[in-house]
Amino acid sequence: MAGVDSRPRRLRRTPGLRSLVRETHLDPSQLVLPMFVVPGEDRREPVATFPGVAHVSSDVAVAEARRASDAGVGGVLLFGLPEHKDAEGSAAWNDAAPVQTTTRAIRQALPEMTIITDVCLCQYTDHGHCGLVEPDGTIANDATLPLLARTAVSHARAGADMVAPSDMMDGRVRAIRAALDTEGFAERVGIMSYSTKFASAFYSPFRDAARSTPQRGDRRSYQMDPANGREALHESLLDAAEGADVLMVKPAGPYLDVIARLAERTTLPIAAYQVSGEHAALRFAAANGALDLRLATLESLLAIRRAGASFVMTYSAVDVAGWLA
Ligand code: PBG
Repeated sequence: MAGVDSRPRRLRRTPGLRSLVRETHLDPSQLVLPMFVVPGEDRREPVATFPGVAHVSSDVAVAEARRASDAGVGGVLLFGLPEHKDAEGSAAWNDAAPVQTTTRAIRQALPEMTIITDVCLCQYTDHGHCGLVEPDGTIANDATLPLLARTAVSHARAGADMVAPSDMMDGRVRAIRAALDTEGFAERVGIMSYSTKFASAFYSPFRDAARSTPQRGDRRSYQMDPANGREALHESLLDAAEGADVLMVKPAGPYLDVIARLAERTTLPIAAYQVSGEHAALRFAAANGALDLRLATLESLLAIRRAGASFVMTYSAVDVAGWLA
């Protein structure tokens, strides 16, 4: 037929042909479920701005981790809300705090489960910043590093497979690696660094859930400017050089170009975080009839994988595993 040299539609004609040429696949094992753990027992308290997400006590977290594991989900990522906050965030490295307690409980109930723990101070500080705050409001970088390292060691002792620093202080991967090595975790605890983390408006539901909105100022002196793609690569490659085992881009959906460019430049695995605002946007749109939740969620995750992410943190992990089954 004149005028048509190539007919890509020939390979789209049947489900069998489409499946043969499909380039990207989504599997529950590539998804990690984030959870918010609180002190106490038998607690499951929903967060209004965050559909499908709740604060859970350790015992409930174990039950949810079991459900995730049974569904084939690749792992859990634990965030903790402490009983008390202070200027230093000292509950972060308390061996009896919710993340540590829950890590031990999941490790005991589900020895094979992959457990990743978030290392940051913002859930633990009364000012809500990810590092120590100086009298003039500056976020102190180097003075924060030992506190992050101490937190990571406490998580390692509880049984975490990987610690995930999300604070965006310079040099924290090297500081954490050195502390883990000194404390005997050189061979068994990895670092999944939030290596490229943007100062994003898409974290709001998380901050409601984690009660970690800064009391004053914002996070733009440590999280990255959404305008910067080259700096995004610089940030991630620095963390690789400092000893990170996995690099992460966060948020995911609005930053697929960053994932794709990073994938060309590193041989480390790349993770991506479909953050709370991305999750809530899909859920609220679907609840109002604007989107098909299943199709839109699967498409959003497939696109993140296609861009180059090996695995994805998503609050929809268990639902997605069910849809894929
Ligand atoms: C803590 C942290 C945040 C997220 C993960 N770790 C919030 C922030 O930086 O304000 C966001 C995750 C999400 O929105 O789902 N530093």
